[in-house]
Amino acid sequence: MDQNEMKKAVAAAAAKYVEERLEEKSVIGVGTGSTANYFIECLAPFKNRIHSTVASSEETRRRLMALGIPVFDLNSVDEVTFYIDGADEANAQLHLIKGGGGALTREKIIAAVAKEFVCIADQSKYVPVLGRFPLPVEVIPMARSHVGRAIVKLGGDPVYREGFITDNGNQIIDIHNMHIVDPRELEQQLNQITGVVTNGLFAIRPADLLILGTRDGIRTYTAA
Ligand code: A5P
Repeated sequence: MDQNEMKKAVAAAAAKYVEERLEEKSVIGVGTGSTANYFIECLAPFKNRIHSTVASSEETRRRLMALGIPVFDLNSVDEVTFYIDGADEANAQLHLIKGGGGALTREKIIAAVAKEFVCIADQSKYVPVLGRFPLPVEVIPMARSHVGRAIVKLGGDPVYREGFITDNGNQIIDIHNMHIVDPRELEQQLNQITGVVTNGLFAIRPADLLILGTRDGIRTYTAA
């Protein structure tokens, strides 16, 4: 299996997981990225049973609506039953780095609301220590330099993601060269910098279940 086949396999497994547990009032939170896009395709065969979804990006909203799947504003639903999304890195505690596609803030909001957060990824994303993938931080544009200087003090190398604007009208700084030994602590430290909207560490609210695609098939993990 190549990487794309692993992504398709985990997307199909997550769709099966949701379909088997779907109730009339279930709300499905749908993530962003190539793995999440495969998941959206896997919703099509049972779309008539899907009462509501919430989308973590405008791109995901468009894809769901193109399939005729109802998408609601998060403020108009009482709960999110399942949230299915990819990740850029995951560790054994199911702490994640997310935001490679720049949708981290809406993703983190949906994860915070979700009763169950299911992460879907291929085996290249499973790492012993987070931080090889640059950690995205969404910033208010006028605070970019201030946040960059604060990141240097924390030991990271901030790189401005030029030409990229988030769905919320903000900018992204990617932190390179951080060996993240305490993801919960760093998540908090970054969020305390004035001008940071949020950062791509999902450790305070980790995934509940990781469905990982490997060359030998699908493996599932709960937090170690
Ligand atoms: C989007 O902002 C990200 O959090 C994605 O979930 C993450 O980048 C994974 O993307 P792929 O599924 O494309 O690898």
